[in-house]
Amino acid sequence: MTGKLVSRQEWKTAIGINALWTRRDDRAPLPALFSEKGAKEVLRFHRSLRSYRKTPLVRLRALASKLGVSEIFVKDESKRFGLNAFKGLGGTWAMFRIICEKLGLDPGSTTPDDLQKGELRKAVEAMTFVTATDGNHGRGISYAGGLFGCHVHVYMPRGTVEERAEAIRRVGPAEVLVTDLNYDDTVRLAKRKSDENGWFLIQDTSWDGFEKVPTWIIQGYLTMAKEALDEMTDVAGAPTHVFLQAGVGSMAGGVAAYLAAVLPEKPVISVVEPTTVACVYESAKAEDGRSCSIPGAPETIMAGLNCGTPCSVVWPILRDYCEFFFACPDYVTAHGMRLYANPLPGDEGIVSGESGAVTMGLLDLVLRRPELAEVKEQMGLGPGSRVLLISTEGNTNKAGYREIVREGAFPLPF
Ligand SMILES: Cc1ncc(COP(=O)(O)O)c(C=O)c1O
Repeated sequence: MTGKLVSRQEWKTAIGINALWTRRDDRAPLPALFSEKGAKEVLRFHRSLRSYRKTPLVRLRALASKLGVSEIFVKDESKRFGLNAFKGLGGTWAMFRIICEKLGLDPGSTTPDDLQKGELRKAVEAMTFVTATDGNHGRGISYAGGLFGCHVHVYMPRGTVEERAEAIRRVGPAEVLVTDLNYDDTVRLAKRKSDENGWFLIQDTSWDGFEKVPTWIIQGYLTMAKEALDEMTDVAGAPTHVFLQAGVGSMAGGVAAYLAAVLPEKPVISVVEPTTVACVYESAKAEDGRSCSIPGAPETIMAGLNCGTPCSVVWPILRDYCEFFFACPDYVTAHGMRLYANPLPGDEGIVSGESGAVTMGLLDLVLRRPELAEVKEQMGLGPGSRVLLISTEGNTNKAGYREIVREGAFPLPF
């Protein structure tokens, strides 16, 4: 069996951040699509979209020097397709692949423009997609629906701020409904609606029997990973340490698989989650290598990371190719948002939202706080380290952003 646990150490720190280090034997094979070939295929598609621009890779030289590492690079995904988050990368590619499959088209030789012509256009207009979302994935799907001309239904969990629902309507044709269900149950509702109405389910997580579409979505994220890795390697060398935030872990798993596939020297990869809903962390602790779920309706300001069940397609990758797992209270991401918003002289500022900034808050604390000194040492973080972070969203909740960045909500507890 793959994923056999060889060693494990856990740190439950006095500042509320929990860290876990694991080493496993017999790693699961890497999925073929999350390779350099898969990344090139999806990058070619994204480049064919008129709205495509490579997002900035920001080099924080002053911060790296202050914190005692060689480099800190941040991929700023708030600039992606004007959607304020990375998620549209997966939604556009998966919708394109579903359309091609349904209409018997070769995705390698079909362009998005081809779908706008004659009979093909009519066939695409007859297609309806459905999904559940905390916000960012739904915005990507609504946007993709507008791009190709299909119908879209989006369901959102209870507690969703109206601004997020409205942002989905604004970027495309989606009909949006905020339910009174938690995230996992909202996904089940979207699945039921797809079964009842013959709509295409385009969900960014997987389960037994529903793997093809999420695999395409995850492949879509490789555009971001490839852009970041190519640029960082050119400018300063490949990363030695990568921190990836996780909801269901699709993004983290896809990026980790790609890095493992293409880099001869494996970086130390960390998965970072909110404490209240750390489903990857809890799963990584288990001896038997199986994933588990966090029940109930957990709360966190990291709305995009508020997911209780790891994505089954990437779970073996997260388990076998990521070494460190972190569970962080909300103050950690608030700290990260303020660090991005108030750069040191010479560094560039970044607008990063609650689900985007937790890795920055964590990196700063791992490098500076005595409570995390052992973890820092175990990670091998020091003067030779080249760190890569992804700020996966901008200020998707503007009121929350203001309260945290301007008014200091969720202050450091020490
Ligand atoms: C901004 C942001 N970052 C990170 C994630 C985590 O992605 P995943 O659910 O694939 O782990 C999400 C998910 O919605 C998100 O919206």
